[in-house]
Amino acid sequence: MKATDILALKEAALAEARAADTAETLEQVRIKYLGRKGLLPDIMQGLKDADVSERPAMGRYANELKQELAALLATRRTALDNARTTSGSAAGDSFDPTLPGRWRAFGTRHPISRIIEDAIRIFDTLGFSVADGPDIETEYHNFDALNTPDDHPSRDTQDTFWLESGQLLRTQTSPVQIRVMESRPPPVRIIAPGRCYRRDTTDATHSANFHQIEGLYVDRHVSMADLKGDITCFAQRLMGPDVKVRFRPHFFPFTEPSVEYDFSCHVCGGKGCRVCKQSGWIEISGAGMVNPKVFAKVGYDPEVFTGYAFGMGVERIAMIRYGIHDIRLLYDNDKRFLEQLG
Ligand code: DAH
Repeated sequence: MKATDILALKEAALAEARAADTAETLEQVRIKYLGRKGLLPDIMQGLKDADVSERPAMGRYANELKQELAALLATRRTALDNARTTSGSAAGDSFDPTLPGRWRAFGTRHPISRIIEDAIRIFDTLGFSVADGPDIETEYHNFDALNTPDDHPSRDTQDTFWLESGQLLRTQTSPVQIRVMESRPPPVRIIAPGRCYRRDTTDATHSANFHQIEGLYVDRHVSMADLKGDITCFAQRLMGPDVKVRFRPHFFPFTEPSVEYDFSCHVCGGKGCRVCKQSGWIEISGAGMVNPKVFAKVGYDPEVFTGYAFGMGVERIAMIRYGIHDIRLLYDNDKRFLEQLG
């Protein structure tokens, strides 16, 4: 064997590697030339018997063959791999017609939208219709008509987004109560889902933009027992029959008496976990009997009518329903998270 024979062999090997269009043929080229029983080890073996004048060139060409072929095989292998993953149907024989097709990913409803839709459906069965109000509110509807005193901390610029016009981004859905009662006589039975805004610094449990569902039921003889029964009924239809509701005395300017209410934690069944901060309960929001001063603002006769009102934090409900411990997950629009809720 002469040095030029090795050169020719190198060219042949590189040409074969270039022509190989599947991982298998590429592997066959490697075995043929570089494998333990391949042509290259043979040549190396033969070097010692070769003509002394030919030997240095033969050694050099043999090394080139080994290195250039190994490098080319590696690039070809990556190229073939990429072609297969990007095209989905590989070139040549790596196409497997028995594999299931690739499904186009369908979007799913966002958890916030789902809870609002479920609430509308459940309250519909209790006779509630849906009311709406503007996100940009007047100070009158958001505070004054709701009997919130001028010096109430929630009016502070620290807490409320005030606009230059003197209007504000509603801090709660409660102003919808006022708008509904201003527009029609009792009886009233509405829920009002919507966005609210507060100057909160975003962290695991706070967001400057969040959602509430307001409820208002005004008629003759509406009582606190109706409020407790309806909220408990809602909680159990939404979360399951084991969910418990707890009412705690509280203060809101627009209800008297007022309560805060909690749902038992759906994630741990009330035993205590990260989502409920080990308490077994999640605070949902506030409620109470409509304050007669609010009725006076909208011209309802408090001697004839009574009513209950409630708010609901939609994100809070989403957190227990889906076992989320960071509210920010609900706004990141990370498909990996949203798909898990599908
Ligand atoms: N608007 C209150 C809040 O954002 C929640 C609330 C409390 C709503 C009592 C009500 C109610 O309708 O009666 O904190």
